[in-house]
Amino acid sequence: MCGIVGILGKEPVAFDVVEALKRLEYRGYDSAGVATIEGGEIRRTRAEGKLKNLDGKLREAPHQGRVGIGHTRWATHGRPTENNAHPHATDRLAVVHNGIIENFRELREELTAKGAVFVSQTDTEVVAHLVTDLMKSGLAPREAVAAALPRLHGAFALGFIFGGEDNLLIGARRGAPLAVGYGEGEMYLGSDALALAPFTDRIAYLEEGDWVVLTRDGAQYFDETNTPVTRKPQKSQAGAYLVDKGNHRHFMLKEIYEQPEVVGRTLAHYVDMSAGKVQLPFDAPVDWTKLTRLSITACGTAFLAGQIGKYWFERLAKLPVEIDIASEFRYRDAPLDDGQLMIVVSQSGETADTLATLRYAKSCGNKILSVVNVPTSTIARESDAVALTLAGPEIGVASTKAFTCQLTVLASLAIAAGRARGVLSAEREAELINALIATPGLIADALKLEEPIAALSHSLAKASDVLYLGRGTSYPLAMEGALKLKEISYIHAEGYAAGELKHGPIALIDETLPVIVLAPRDHWFEKTVSNVQEVAARGGEIVLVGPQGASEACAVATLADVTMPEVPPDFSAIVYAVPVQLIAYHTAVVMGKDVDQPRNLAKSVTVE
Ligand code: F6R
Repeated sequence: MCGIVGILGKEPVAFDVVEALKRLEYRGYDSAGVATIEGGEIRRTRAEGKLKNLDGKLREAPHQGRVGIGHTRWATHGRPTENNAHPHATDRLAVVHNGIIENFRELREELTAKGAVFVSQTDTEVVAHLVTDLMKSGLAPREAVAAALPRLHGAFALGFIFGGEDNLLIGARRGAPLAVGYGEGEMYLGSDALALAPFTDRIAYLEEGDWVVLTRDGAQYFDETNTPVTRKPQKSQAGAYLVDKGNHRHFMLKEIYEQPEVVGRTLAHYVDMSAGKVQLPFDAPVDWTKLTRLSITACGTAFLAGQIGKYWFERLAKLPVEIDIASEFRYRDAPLDDGQLMIVVSQSGETADTLATLRYAKSCGNKILSVVNVPTSTIARESDAVALTLAGPEIGVASTKAFTCQLTVLASLAIAAGRARGVLSAEREAELINALIATPGLIADALKLEEPIAALSHSLAKASDVLYLGRGTSYPLAMEGALKLKEISYIHAEGYAAGELKHGPIALIDETLPVIVLAPRDHWFEKTVSNVQEVAARGGEIVLVGPQGASEACAVATLADVTMPEVPPDFSAIVYAVPVQLIAYHTAVVMGKDVDQPRNLAKSVTVE
């Protein structure tokens, strides 16, 4: 959720800390701060709002400290004010924190009774005071951190620096990710390898419960029982990806345009194109033929990818699928049978609710197959098998290329299951593979519709509500369209199953309500056409997203037609995702919204 950085450098580090934080800004961006040790004393600079505010303050009064920590915040406790921004500090230490300290109230009372004075509304400040209290009782910094960690409940990552210690940085991981970077006589700490990519590609990951003591000579790791452990640095690929917008105005647009490439790359990982067969690059953790039921869980856009996957697993593999959003699944006490499979979908691989559901399913004896974009993520590491989406780092907060890559992987898995279960013949498999192989090219064709979509967005930008309709796999895609529009343009939107319209939402329709209908020529096309006519009969402003001839088939007046290329029916959602994304993007741009960093959101949701 928040982003953490720590640097033990040879030169003043504050600007390098900010540089690394820029790469973490996708995790949260309502305030930011840096602390360094200067002349033995802790010096802090913090600012409300985006990193450029912090950068400006640091330029006016640069820090000289060679050890420092920094933080970009997405508020959980307390408003996003400068006073609540991290690092939090006492006269002894400064700390940055990602996650939630669940027992902070008790600790706050206990420490207040001992004389600690709290100046912020955050849970983080208790960590600063707890470790300070232990130091005042005579413990050295590392002993104090070791003694404090077992007292903290919740999922979090921490980074500390200490007054009078120019060669010490301590990090700890309980449920939120933390990476250690190795430089030449310099050491780094970061929420992910991407943050550290400008400085080093030698990265070690803390395991769950670990804490680490860094000096310029290296790192000493301890597990949660304080036993010394080895965590070997590996060569990270994070630097191989260009983390800039290229010639695009926003990361989101760049990522939309990367889809032909990343969907193709992902497909190549799962499909033997010449043989017309799926070739999974890992051993399936279960025998597909023995499964009686498949569970899928995820949050947000990843959940909607899972919803589309449900249609594919049921149709192509005759496998009953139960799918639920992770924040519900984890607390539902759903009975799960031993030996069955749960598929977990997550771009970041760190989403707290998704991870908790994974752990619940595991405790019920389920095998876990995760569809993730970050191979080193916690979800990947706790899974029995990992199906990677090769989307590369996704920086725009609104998920786009990760979604289409998730769909690509789920389609491949459904075909693999269908083949193994004897539902699909070799010919049908080859036909489906051909349809998948066509998707990157069709996505590229769909991208050519950007101009008419941009033009149509001027009308949508005036709406206060928008309805998206679809049937079959276009139904979850309609919900994805509504989610995209809500999150970046702040226009209220709903995605509905077109057949459900007459059971309530049809009452909303009048000439002020744009209704975006997703109508690929698939198994549900004719039915969708009838629904378009129902909307038209009530004066709704229709935007018809369908193939050549769809408009004639509907025979109604529309606000706009988005004429898509002819797409093979089974996997139309992968291609129809493109107009859905472009509609949201351009509407938000017309409205002057911050597309890459919409208000109140964070890229990686590591709190529940
Ligand atoms: C929407 C979006 C979110 C994420 C959700 C899950 O555009 O990005 O809804 O899909 O927070 O995140 P991951 O996939 O990282 O588990």
